[in-house]
Amino acid sequence: MAIQVPFFRPDIREPEIDEVVASLRSGWLTTGPRVKRFEEEFAAAVGAPHAVAVNSATAALHLAVEALGLKAGEAVLVPTMTFAATAEIVRYLGAHPILVDCDPVTTNLDLDDARCKLEALRAGKLSARIPADAKPVGIIPVHIGGLMMDVERIRAFAHENGLWVVEDAAHAFPASWRKDSSSPWQRCGENTSAISCFSFYANKTITTGEGGMATTTDAELAHRMRLMSLHGLSHDAWGRYSGGGKWDYRILAPGFKYNLTDLAAAIGIHQLARAEAMRREREAVARELLDALDDVEELELPPTDENRIHSWHLFPIRLRLERLSVDRNQVMDELKARGVGCSVHWRPLHLHPYYEETFGWRADALPVATRTWERLISLPVFPGMRPTEIRHVVETVKDLCRANRPTVSPAAAARS
Ligand SMILES: Cc1ncc(COP(=O)(O)O)c(C=O)c1O
Repeated sequence: MAIQVPFFRPDIREPEIDEVVASLRSGWLTTGPRVKRFEEEFAAAVGAPHAVAVNSATAALHLAVEALGLKAGEAVLVPTMTFAATAEIVRYLGAHPILVDCDPVTTNLDLDDARCKLEALRAGKLSARIPADAKPVGIIPVHIGGLMMDVERIRAFAHENGLWVVEDAAHAFPASWRKDSSSPWQRCGENTSAISCFSFYANKTITTGEGGMATTTDAELAHRMRLMSLHGLSHDAWGRYSGGGKWDYRILAPGFKYNLTDLAAAIGIHQLARAEAMRREREAVARELLDALDDVEELELPPTDENRIHSWHLFPIRLRLERLSVDRNQVMDELKARGVGCSVHWRPLHLHPYYEETFGWRADALPVATRTWERLISLPVFPGMRPTEIRHVVETVKDLCRANRPTVSPAAAARS
């Protein structure tokens, strides 16, 4: 049978399965002792004093901006190159996401463009549908694929403009950055922003099926997020029904239902214990792909940086379309037909109907993302990827590039 390489294959082992069974047998299925342990161990893993476990990164992001006091009518800088969640949580509170273009190589948020967007906002030139008096209060950078942005530059930019920073760290565990080779490493979540939000969705670097975590150094923010994660109740079910707990509670705020279950945390505890080992496995796969595809002229490969510990959640390549006779979608169709799972991260937000129609975003306001996304393909990278699978990905990609070279060379086309 022809080889099929999935885009991702979760690495679930016996300890995860045994712990879920133990959780089921314990009779305590919802938020309880396993969630508490997962929070403590995750906090230690990123070097944060507080961690609040929730049922998705989207929930963590929502709780984060709520805890920071985001109000209707305010404005938040959000990269256009991201998943739906990063911007929708700003809309949950009736605020305006100000979309920012991306760096052409990392595809992470471009702080120079963020500055331009703030100036345009203040001058009333951003969009007729975003009022010039919408007060910018925050920025939500995303570390795409697990390659961290320059945390110091984000902090300086935020300070200069009076903004809070919430990190969308959905891809960035475990990941670290340092300013230069003589500076110390800082882990994502180790005071890298006011609140860092991680995802444990099925295909993330560690998984609980669905799940997320918000980490912070600020006890008050942690308290608010914990309160709002469970209906704004004065104490949770474990606190009420475990030995010595009181049945009674008070509703202190109209909260949400975002708590993580012990069943999910049972998986997370053991994924967490293998997080660095799995990261190294992905890194080894990424290095093999980088080496093997290095000489393919039709491709640009994902950047590496000696001052980053990359989580390698994604391996996004960019096609040099001028050297190919087919477009990105045709290449993806061919990859899939030949058994290589692949994806795109992402169609930028400004090219989705909701953001186009609601805020009037135009493609030329975010030119780099507009040009780049049409060239993007994420190839498979996951722990336990077999040598035959890596070879199949490499050979298929090389073969497709060879087979789809234009019949007229780009140089000749330029002369004619
Ligand atoms: C950058 C980014 N942010 C947020 C999320 C949302 O994560 P979750 O599915 O845990 O809510 C995702 C999910 O893919 C993501 O890629």
